[in-house]
Amino acid sequence: MTEQDYTVLIVDDHDDTRKNISKLLKFESNIKVVDTASTGKEGIKKARELTPDVVLMDINMPDMDGIKATEAIQEQVPSTQIVILSVQGDTNYMRRAMLAGARDFMTKPAKSDELITVIKRAGQKAKEEKEKAAFTVPGQAGVRTKYGTTSQLSGFGKVISVYSPKGGVGKTTIATNLAITLHRDETPVVIVDGNLQFGDVAVFMNERSKNSIVDLTPMANQLDPEVVDEVAIHHKASGVDIISAPPHPEDADTVTGPQLVKVLEYLKRLYTYVIVDTATGLSDITLDTLDASDLVILVTAQDIPSIINSRMMLALLRALNISKGKIVMAMNRFEKQISISPEKVSKNLNHKIVAVIPEDPQIVMPAVNRGVPFMLDDVKSKEIGKGILKLSAQVRDSLNELEQEIVTEN
Ligand SMILES: Nc1ncnc2c1ncn2[C@@H]1O[C@H](COP(=O)(O)OP(=O)(O)O)[C@@H](O)[C@H]1O
Ligand SMILES: [Mg+2]
Repeated sequence: MTEQDYTVLIVDDHDDTRKNISKLLKFESNIKVVDTASTGKEGIKKARELTPDVVLMDINMPDMDGIKATEAIQEQVPSTQIVILSVQGDTNYMRRAMLAGARDFMTKPAKSDELITVIKRAGQKAKEEKEKAAFTVPGQAGVRTKYGTTSQLSGFGKVISVYSPKGGVGKTTIATNLAITLHRDETPVVIVDGNLQFGDVAVFMNERSKNSIVDLTPMANQLDPEVVDEVAIHHKASGVDIISAPPHPEDADTVTGPQLVKVLEYLKRLYTYVIVDTATGLSDITLDTLDASDLVILVTAQDIPSIINSRMMLALLRALNISKGKIVMAMNRFEKQISISPEKVSKNLNHKIVAVIPEDPQIVMPAVNRGVPFMLDDVKSKEIGKGILKLSAQVRDSLNELEQEIVTEN
């Protein structure tokens, strides 16, 4: 066996199938069947031990079905590519298997030339993944140069989440308009709808798509630029990409915090700014998102309950070890005639409010109803436009400062 050979593990509960496929592949010089397994559990164990390039996976098996086994393998042995083999008519299963992270699928009985093509294609992908893994050392601090230490991560994008413990304070309004302001050809932006059940980012931008975050999370370990490109909505008017919330609220249940975080981490490779609009409240998913953020924009309003909530939130973020420098506070829906001024709130919370965005229903309401974020209109001279521009300037500054800190710490 040479290094170029594609190694294959066959997982199927039928003796005959395992034998037949092994026989079929025997004559193909670049493909080596390294082992077989007759149950899902055994398949996972052998995949871990052998790190095969490709697993041919049956769906219906007695102890653990192929979908669960696929999920486990792609989680534990991310470079291994899984090809599902199933009897005809199982399209629903196959779709689920693909969502669980399978690379490809074929109906049984597989024709030998097709099978070989599919194995080689998946095998090639596995080799690429292994190569990639060999070059990236997770958590590597940085490389020391004459000019100081450049973090290995500094070439990566940043995750900026927009959060508020209260609904209706303007998270989505701010997230969408901030995305538009930060986007440039040389600093591309993706906005991810982290409000999984009732996300409305796409609506705020007058887009709709059947694709959503749930098409990425199951394959969080095996993302590539093509998949992201396929799932993202390309907002033509601004150039911003959108990863929307699932079309049905119940689909949100399939997403776990760690999966979402993995997707965000991957998006940092493709975009300079990964903006996450979050759900109101504090689910595990939102906590994981905040924890994975390089910067958190905490949105507050001008009423006492919002301010009390913000105070609790600041304490919680501190408890989560999210440093003060990572939290940018903005006040939305500001009205001059209300005596609770941003300065007072800053003092009270011991955290500066860096951007004040006025209440301006004349601009905001039509923008939301038309699905055209107001920063696409000429609002730069208006207070609301200035507020968003101030916020985006602050986001850039804070990220730069945090980057400097990383450089000097090392
Ligand atoms: N600065 C503002 N001026 C006037 N209305 C606003 C402003 N910001 C948000 N709104 C309105 O408040 C409502 C809630 O905003 P939204 O961004 O959906 O909040 P959240 O995402 O925090 O729930 C929307 O109808 C929006 O039009
Ligand atoms: Mg919202």
